This record gives sequence, structure tokens and C-alpha cells, in this order.
Amino acid sequence: MRRKKVTILDIQKRKQSKTPITMITAYDFTAALLIDQTETDIILVGDSLGMVMLGYPGTTEVTMDEMLHHCKAVARGTTGAFLVGDMPFMSYQADVTEAMRNAGRFLKEAGMDCVKLEGGREMADTVRAIVRAGIPVMGHIGLTPQTVSQLGGYRIQGKTAAAALSLVKDAMALQDAGCFAIVLEAIPATVAALITKRLIIPTIGIGAGVECDGQVLVYHDLLGLYDRLQPRFVKDYGQIGEAIKTAVQTYTEEVRQRQFPAEEHTYPMNDEEEAAFMTAMAGR
Ligand code: KIV
Repeated sequence: MRRKKVTILDIQKRKQSKTPITMITAYDFTAALLIDQTETDIILVGDSLGMVMLGYPGTTEVTMDEMLHHCKAVARGTTGAFLVGDMPFMSYQADVTEAMRNAGRFLKEAGMDCVKLEGGREMADTVRAIVRAGIPVMGHIGLTPQTVSQLGGYRIQGKTAAAALSLVKDAMALQDAGCFAIVLEAIPATVAALITKRLIIPTIGIGAGVECDGQVLVYHDLLGLYDRLQPRFVKDYGQIGEAIKTAVQTYTEEVRQRQFPAEEHTYPMNDEEEAAFMTAMAGR
């Protein structure tokens, strides 16, 4: 069923009307089709796909080609939700012109509506250049998985007064540079609430408390499909992983016991043709 396309203006209006924005990751056509039949505002093709779809230990391994491949699949399954393509590690950090070109590929080749990139003040010039090229940018500060090695692991950020203040400066710099929204990941709820109040653009939290203008979760976490990393901020809304294991085990047992395929799953043959076939075979 087709629904009206969510636009950047709808997302900005949600902040004014205090209607929480909902964002979920998706990485393939089928997941996009399912999510797009709900009222979710935004689908993020996150570089978390490196871990949950490709089995990498983290997100730094993910390439532009891999991101574009998954973005295209999600775009084919989406009509209504606003689409965010996550710029992978080293596709925007080295050079501003390269960042603009790579950002453009998400819209031109992969059907995304905007890009997301990680980093605070140090990314302001890059954000400014991409936005100037006509590409909307979503920021991402706090726990930034692409720099997890520098952060010393997947740890909560902004816990000290100085670190919290630094996050506020990052958020303000990204807003000034032209970001239309910012993801706040794994920071204390009070810090996220204050940033949300200070900004005129929406914040979307993941492990950042209920005062953010919206929330995002990884599809596999929300559905109980991936249990290798289970941060405190994840809520399991469905044990789909368990349901898959039960279904696959039942299938395996039924095949072994010749209970599957049953008659209704089998193509019959016309009686006369079958008899003729048997006679022909008997003569050989
Ligand atoms: O890659 C991703 O899924 C993300 C979200 C966790 C915000 O960046």
C-alpha cells in the first residue's frame, strides 16, 4: 500500500508540534517493504549493516560500494519513508571534495533523500560543503561507532561536565553548518534533553533518553535478530530470531521424517499421462 512521502519539512515540523520522530534501520528490499507499511517516518540504511548483515566486527570495514548496494535495495522497497544513507568510514573524512562526490552518489545512484555522517565541530566544513551542493545532511554525535577505536570502545559519551559541554558545542556547530537533524547516540539523558532544547533542528536519540525529538533503533536489535552486541538502550520488540530458529528446525525435522512436502505442496500428473509414462519407462 502506497503512503504519502515523508519530507524534510514534515520531519522539521514534528519538532515544532512535539510529535516524536520515528526512525528504524533497514538494509534490504523485504525489510523496507515491511517497514514502509507502518507509520515509521525515516528509514536509515546505517553502516551498522557491516555488523548485522555482513558479519564484520565493526562498521569501519564498510565500503561505499556496499553501502550503495544496500541503499538501492531499500529504495526499491520504499515509497513513503524518508531515506537516509549512512556515509561509511573514510568516504568523507579525508577530503571535502571527495565527501561531496560520495554524498552525491547516495542521492544520484542509490535513491536516498539525504546522507548521515559522524562527527562534531571537526566535520562542520564538510557538512557545509555537502549542504551547499544541495544534499541534506543528518549529523551524528556522542558514541560514533566509526571512531570506536579512538573512543576506547562502545562506551557512553558526555559523562563529565566538560565532555557534555563539548557535545553541546558539536551540536551547535553542526546546526550552524546546515544539518537538518542530529543523531545523539549513547549520552546521558540530561545532556540530550539540553541539546534538544537548545537546537532548532530535531535530535534523534539512540540511548539518549526520552526527551529527544525522535528515536532510532537498529532493525535487528528491535526484532531480536542479532544477539552479539546488546547495548542497554536496546528494547526487544519481537523475538523474531527465536521464531526463525523454531521454523527452520521444524522444517528440518519434517524433511527428515518425510512429512514435508505433503500432497498439497506437490504437483500431480494427469492419470492417463502418468500411466503412459509408466508403460514407456517399463519398456526401457
Ligand atoms: O549505522 C547505524 O545503524 C546508525 C544508528 C545506530 C544511528 O548509525
